[in-house]
Amino acid sequence: IVNMWIIALFCLFTLSVADDSGFNTRRFPANFKFGAANAAPQIEGAWNLDGKGETIWDHFAHNYPERIVDRTTPDIACDSYHKYKEDVALVKQMGLDIYRLSIAWSRILPTGYTDQVNSLGVQYYKNLFKELKENGIEPLVTLYHWDLPQPLQESMGGWLNETIVDLFADYARLCFELFNDDVTSWITINEPKQVCLAGYGSGIFAPGIQSDGVGDYICIKNVLLAHAKAYRIYDQDFRMKNKGKVAMVIDSTFWEPGSDSEADKEASERSLQFDLGIYGHPIYIGDWPEVVKTRVAMRSELEGFTQSRLPELTAEEIEFIKGTHDYLALNHYSTQMVNATQEWPIGNPSSAADRSVLVWNRPEWVKGSSDWFNVVPWGLRKLLNWLKNEYGDEEIIITENGYADADGTLEDDRRIAYYQGYLSSCLDAIYEDNVNLTAYVTWSIIDDWEWLGGFSSFLGMYRVDFNDPERPRIKRKSADYFTQIVKNRCVVD
Ligand code: NOJ
Repeated sequence: IVNMWIIALFCLFTLSVADDSGFNTRRFPANFKFGAANAAPQIEGAWNLDGKGETIWDHFAHNYPERIVDRTTPDIACDSYHKYKEDVALVKQMGLDIYRLSIAWSRILPTGYTDQVNSLGVQYYKNLFKELKENGIEPLVTLYHWDLPQPLQESMGGWLNETIVDLFADYARLCFELFNDDVTSWITINEPKQVCLAGYGSGIFAPGIQSDGVGDYICIKNVLLAHAKAYRIYDQDFRMKNKGKVAMVIDSTFWEPGSDSEADKEASERSLQFDLGIYGHPIYIGDWPEVVKTRVAMRSELEGFTQSRLPELTAEEIEFIKGTHDYLALNHYSTQMVNATQEWPIGNPSSAADRSVLVWNRPEWVKGSSDWFNVVPWGLRKLLNWLKNEYGDEEIIITENGYADADGTLEDDRRIAYYQGYLSSCLDAIYEDNVNLTAYVTWSIIDDWEWLGGFSSFLGMYRVDFNDPERPRIKRKSADYFTQIVKNRCVVD
């Protein structure tokens, strides 16, 4: 409570400074928006209710329980399918402008194909959009948050088969048709890196295909084409006058050079290109990043492949993908250090080996629930600047950022400190570096099913009691803190 008062007073004080001198660096701009994000497979539950089809994550959790830390499934999750009004009420209560949600492909199209539309699924999202509208909250809608309909994996290999490009485009067109009156901000695909590297490279994520250094790159190409096709459909047939925007969400760690040496700076740049540029460059500039092309080709040749493991983009494909963005959507959680190292041994192809760097964490960094989760607010500012330098003055929306802990405490001071640091970093980027950052959407408003982490990694400003069939939402300290930031449009640092 005392903290809240300090924030309010501080914000009022800086406001008066701004009035007197015109010097205003600490308040979020008037049109800056705040929001919270979630995704269908992590909160909805109702995995097979009202006609919803099975997804690759339903299948994965049901068939390989040992791969999920606590052997849980997304069957019920937060039960948001039934409790969505409660979620919207929380968003409203916090004064947020945006609610980021995802549509479950298999709730609309149980088999993945457009020949069978599930009207109850359509109705669910219609109801949700209505609820948001009545509460004055803007939906930011993801079409694909990793939940591929299982039949598309089983019958045609999912993202490894180029037919997926048309199937995704058909699904996207249907969603634009169904919901164009309700939604103006769209995301095609969330975090292609996880879809491809974890889903089809290392295979740790659903559908669990291990094809490191080969399948993951094929997947990336198909994801980019699918995104581009959906974007072009929207652009040609659905964009309403001066309204409507579409982007793909890219996630990236910031890779800080381990020293001032040229080699370490190069290792950092290479890491950013392999981690982010491989998705961003084709969309914002055109074609793969040069360093990715050269290195994968070089290693493929040494490994005896007759051509690069990175599929070529033809001139038409380059043109088709290039420019398919209305803004830049970034998910960012953490920073890691990176050093140049000897070329990784040839013979075990993988995208990590193609990148060949040494990753480490500073021991003094505060951690979240996993080893790579370092709390490094300046990393966000550096990453925003990297994006600006690389892709120009694009409008940027942070579509995810938040703190994961393993204990789920209600007294979540570490989450508060995380928001304080990362939001201050946003202000620095806006005012000191002129980054065109227009919104900050946090992950997350409520705890959820965290994929391999099941119900054992917590990111919500509200705790969900997963042992209670009613799935009550219980406020954490950070919810009040975040509400104050949104209200005062200011962060004390
Ligand atoms: C990224 C993903 O988009 C989301 O699904 C996940 O829950 C969060 N990160 C937090 O781990």
